[in-house]
Amino acid sequence: MFRILKRTNIRASTCLQVGALLVIIFLWKDCMDHKTIHLKEDVRNDASKTKPPSKSASGVHSWPRCEQNRSAASDTDFGSIPQSVQDFLYYRHCRHFPMLLDLPDKCGGASGSAEVFLLLVIKSSPENYDRREVLRKTWAKERLQNGVRIQRIFISGTTGTGFEKDSMNGVLKLEQHEHSDILQWDFSDSLYNFTLKQILFLEWMERNCPNARFLLNADDDVFAVTDNVVEYLQSLEDNNGNKHLFTGHLIQNVRPTALSWSKHFIPVQVQESGSYPPFCSGGGILLSGYTALVIYNMSQSIPILPFDDIYMGMCLAKAGLTPSSHNGVMTTSLYIPSSNVDEYDPCYYREILLVHRFLPAYIYLMWDRIHNPDLKC
Ligand SMILES: *[C@@H]1O[C@H](CO)[C@@H](O)[C@H](O)[C@H]1NC(C)=O
Ligand SMILES: *[C@@H]1O[C@H](CO)[C@@H](O)[C@H](O)[C@H]1NC(C)=O
Ligand SMILES: *[C@@H]1O[C@H](CO)[C@@H](O)[C@H](O)[C@H]1NC(C)=O
Repeated sequence: MFRILKRTNIRASTCLQVGALLVIIFLWKDCMDHKTIHLKEDVRNDASKTKPPSKSASGVHSWPRCEQNRSAASDTDFGSIPQSVQDFLYYRHCRHFPMLLDLPDKCGGASGSAEVFLLLVIKSSPENYDRREVLRKTWAKERLQNGVRIQRIFISGTTGTGFEKDSMNGVLKLEQHEHSDILQWDFSDSLYNFTLKQILFLEWMERNCPNARFLLNADDDVFAVTDNVVEYLQSLEDNNGNKHLFTGHLIQNVRPTALSWSKHFIPVQVQESGSYPPFCSGGGILLSGYTALVIYNMSQSIPILPFDDIYMGMCLAKAGLTPSSHNGVMTTSLYIPSSNVDEYDPCYYREILLVHRFLPAYIYLMWDRIHNPDLKC
């Protein structure tokens, strides 16, 4: 159980009555220690029973701090696994982090959110300022497209510690002031926390934007032709987002061990071997609002695994749903027939939905090129 120590006020008045300087200093330190909310050894992993968030003066939802599970270190071989994985195991049970930047009215409130046809949910780390800037004026521009509304949200944790963390948070705050398009939580934005970020977003969505029709969940280094995405979604038979849709670059039949060379490697201490259910590569996934909420529901009872794309595949499998493949989503790279042609020829990109790994300058250039009315392919 939480042991939330609310003795600060009582202690504060006691502090004032004590005359001796040393005693005051001593008690002051004691008061400060009690200000932090302690969650002792017996941390819990049952997200559904966690205390609801409280609204602070700034209107941002805050959750009590989640502390490390020290008994994770008692696992055999714990010392031999990489630091990043150890860190993951210590904090695996944590599902709520305080929000630093919130956008409760982004979708026009829960009821207004049905007006949002496509919500762009872009995973970005604080330091990727240049990427966000270019996306805001290219594919992720908020607009009416073909009569339907596109909205944009960047989701982020924090980078670094101390001054570095403060500076980077300051950058996001400036951007928020100007663009109102960032959700930020106070957790470390590292590879092994990607699933956490996803779950935090879904929790936010259920609360603030539950009726958005479709979502494009993408990395901040992709080039997405959102005009085509809207056109594709509008062409679906069920285009109001109430049916299952989860599509992108489909990956099937992989085993955790098969990934030992890649950044997606998950040690046995985290996940027993076996094979993963099919999933779509996390670079860019197109899903319905309905499916997003199903994933959120399923996530409540599935322990966190580091990589959000694999994890979402597991949530779908648990719900008896399957991801599908869309050949317009190229999260590896685009096939360019020969090396002596311009790989940034807009004709290769005009018809696609999304391609991974574009430098900001090329995103800027390509967005302009594919919209050139004189373009002939
Ligand atoms: C803490 O770690 C231990 C050892 O891995 C594990 O058995 C336990 O379930 C974890 N506790 C929580 C709350 O995740
Ligand atoms: C995830 O974020 C928490 C909160 O900042 C941090 O304590 C933990 O180390 C992070 N996990 C990993 C694996 O980086
Ligand atoms: C998710 O779970 C809640 C509560 O159990 C339920 O009301 C809701 O219909 C579920 N949503 C979906 C999309 O399955």
